[in-house]
Amino acid sequence: MMTGALPQPLILPSFPPYGLSATFRTGPEFARDRAISLLSGIDPAAGVVGLGDPLVRELSASLPGLRTFPAFSGPACTICSTQGSLWVMVAGKDRTEVVDRFHRLTALLESDFLLEDALDTFLYRDGRDLTGYEDGTENPRGDKAEQVAIVGPGDPLAGSSFVAVQRWVHDLTRFNAFPKSRQDEIMGRERVSNDELPQAPASAHVRRSAQESYDPEAYILRRSMPWSRGEENGLEFIAFGRSLDPFERILRRMAGEDDGVVDALFTFSRPVRGGYYWCPPVKDGRLDLLSGIS
Ligand code: HEM
Repeated sequence: MMTGALPQPLILPSFPPYGLSATFRTGPEFARDRAISLLSGIDPAAGVVGLGDPLVRELSASLPGLRTFPAFSGPACTICSTQGSLWVMVAGKDRTEVVDRFHRLTALLESDFLLEDALDTFLYRDGRDLTGYEDGTENPRGDKAEQVAIVGPGDPLAGSSFVAVQRWVHDLTRFNAFPKSRQDEIMGRERVSNDELPQAPASAHVRRSAQESYDPEAYILRRSMPWSRGEENGLEFIAFGRSLDPFERILRRMAGEDDGVVDALFTFSRPVRGGYYWCPPVKDGRLDLLSGIS
């Protein structure tokens, strides 16, 4: 258990059921010291806060391990980067709480940050993707989750975390038209029992992403949330790590970089946004930006 610099309180427990994923860029009146003071005023219980590389640069600072989300392509798949300056995952027990918190946040940040993108998210059924498959089964738990997601004591960034945020848009009409056997083969699991398929194809998502199959092992803490807006549906993929490397290794294998096999998820879903952020620790109940930024 960590003392002193603590992780942001919403990272390790499961997210509350409602969310709003918001990305900001800095505005023309941006002022360094004011911005740092505003960010420190965000209530860590109201959402997870992450700083992107453009903001760290604008603060004339550097942060080891933080970089811009990469854009690249694989056979028939494109990974795009929409790196923002600031990401906040506003969270709440219901939509009322989320909207009130979001309005407080935008009012607080108004002088220095402009809202670039906002998307309502929610937990679907008992933690499933909109395809109906359970998401998060192989997440590390307890102490292991903390070791995977949070920078450990002794490091100047102790208590902080890095997060990858990637928006996927599903073609559910296409997915739902596939026979059930093909749907299971895309995921590599049986939808109802959640059992892993013994003979899943190499393209199955759980074979592409099997965390212990990497050298070194590539564990991440996933806190993804589905979203649904009229006819558009998808997953706001959110993964925390003490480094961004495990996420990026998995993503590159999914896009076929290791062996030319592309993840079958791309047959019905595609990423349309992507950003990397650093989530500062909390000290004395407030976000502590200055311990990491130099
Ligand atoms: C359309 C987007 C995605 C969907 C619908 C999705 C869904 C799923 C599902 C249903 C599982 C199986 C149950 C579980 O262990 O959670 C899973 C596992 C996993 N996914 Fe995804 N996923 C998506 C994108 C990604 C991305 C972008 C990454 C990382 C780059 C990723 C990493 C993982 C990992 C690490 C596992 C556990 C694998 C294991 O160790 O067995 N997923 N995902």
